[in-house]
Amino acid sequence: MNVLRMAFQEEIQKREDLFFSAEPVLSGYRLTHHLMPPSGWMNDPNGLCFYEGRYHVFFQYSPLTAKGGLKFWGHYSSEDQLDWRYEGVALFPDGPMDCHGTYSGSALEWEGELHVFYTGNVKLEDGNYDYVHEGRKSSTIYVKSQDGIRFGPKRAVLQAKDYPEGYTCHIRDPKVWREDGRWRMLLGGRTAEDRGAALLYEGESPVSWRFRREMTTREPFGYMWECPDFFVLEGQAVLSVSPQGLSREEFRFQNLYQSGYFFLEKDWEAREEIPWNFQEWDMGFDFYAPQTFQDKKGRRLLMAWMGMPAEEEEYQNPTLEEGWQHCMTVPRELRLGKSGICQYPVRELEKLRRKGTGLRDRPARVRGPFDLELSLKGGCGGISIGEELFLDYQDDVAVLRLSQEAGGGRKRRKARIPSGCVDSVRILADTSAAEIYLNHGEVVFSTRYYPKAAERMIQIEAEGYEGNVWEMAPMRLTKRQR
Ligand code: FRU
Repeated sequence: MNVLRMAFQEEIQKREDLFFSAEPVLSGYRLTHHLMPPSGWMNDPNGLCFYEGRYHVFFQYSPLTAKGGLKFWGHYSSEDQLDWRYEGVALFPDGPMDCHGTYSGSALEWEGELHVFYTGNVKLEDGNYDYVHEGRKSSTIYVKSQDGIRFGPKRAVLQAKDYPEGYTCHIRDPKVWREDGRWRMLLGGRTAEDRGAALLYEGESPVSWRFRREMTTREPFGYMWECPDFFVLEGQAVLSVSPQGLSREEFRFQNLYQSGYFFLEKDWEAREEIPWNFQEWDMGFDFYAPQTFQDKKGRRLLMAWMGMPAEEEEYQNPTLEEGWQHCMTVPRELRLGKSGICQYPVRELEKLRRKGTGLRDRPARVRGPFDLELSLKGGCGGISIGEELFLDYQDDVAVLRLSQEAGGGRKRRKARIPSGCVDSVRILADTSAAEIYLNHGEVVFSTRYYPKAAERMIQIEAEGYEGNVWEMAPMRLTKRQR
């Protein structure tokens, strides 16, 4: 083992042991059904896959600081997406090609092995660089594993010389899949003219790649596209990206950065541009860099980082005082809806439901995390959770509001409902996070929020509603014994 890795290992283990020790060291904000960092900071989901009978969730991980610094790959795995095992750090930034970060990437199974591709980040130090046009090297690195836990040697399969001309040094986040016996890869990029684009590569093997084409819109759409993904959902080809640099509008692009998808035409390979039909994945405060994969049941599942790369000025995240920040969304199953993709929590999560209370005519009091399901008659109405989180809707508009304190300074997000009205609501409320699904995931709001007390009163004002709320048991979280 290299010396740098050993030093990291020791320091990280000390911090993670605290998290897994029997005495809980964190307060009531520690999450019970969302994956969170065992120490420090978490961002993008990486290498999502189902391999050797287990779901694997790798993630961008800064175990040494809650404010996000040097990036490693952390790793959770689970047989059933309820009982999670923390596997430890999978990739360390300990080589000459990734010493300033093992950045985002993907994984896929092929011929019994797990093939992982990620971006190795290197920042040049001596010089006056802007780190956009010069001063940064990002290589696409390939590693293999036979058990999903230990990885073989790192090998750069694409480097600066292999990227097309006309780009800045911002090229990263390989998403790799296989199609018709070929290997395909998408990278996210920023052109020299500050346009976001995805770069498509093709290969005969996981180590030999050639550039096929750029994929972007006719008119510029943001200056950078991060974390691209490509998949086919019920026959529809989808390109998902996380663009940066879109201007805020009343109903769209309300966060600093966005994540969304384009529906591609059937003959997209023959077309020069991609169609102008971007839809945002999520309308809440905290959702970025989603990634999808297919599981053994053939479901297309999505997870995203429940956070944002740069903080809005008004946001004061109280978990910082506890030495950690951010989490993942729950896994969501994707389906094609009438007006776009619907996302809904995987069925497995319903197994966490415990004591249930019917919701009819009077407020309900719940203790701790809960799962709420409600059918409504459209029109206008509202749901409040304590005096802290409010969902109001009228016809085709829904508004999420947080109190000043519970929102950590963040207040309001709006969404249009493509089908014209709200007829069902599902809320998964964790200790300091809420995922709100309208119309079975036609529109979703994901947000961190920080309620004062574990006991919350649910109040509904609507015409003719009915539903249930269940207290939720925590997911089981263990740590691999070394
Ligand atoms: C997105 C991102 C990726 C990058 C990673 C670094 O949040 O900026 O583009 O690979 O995070 O942590």
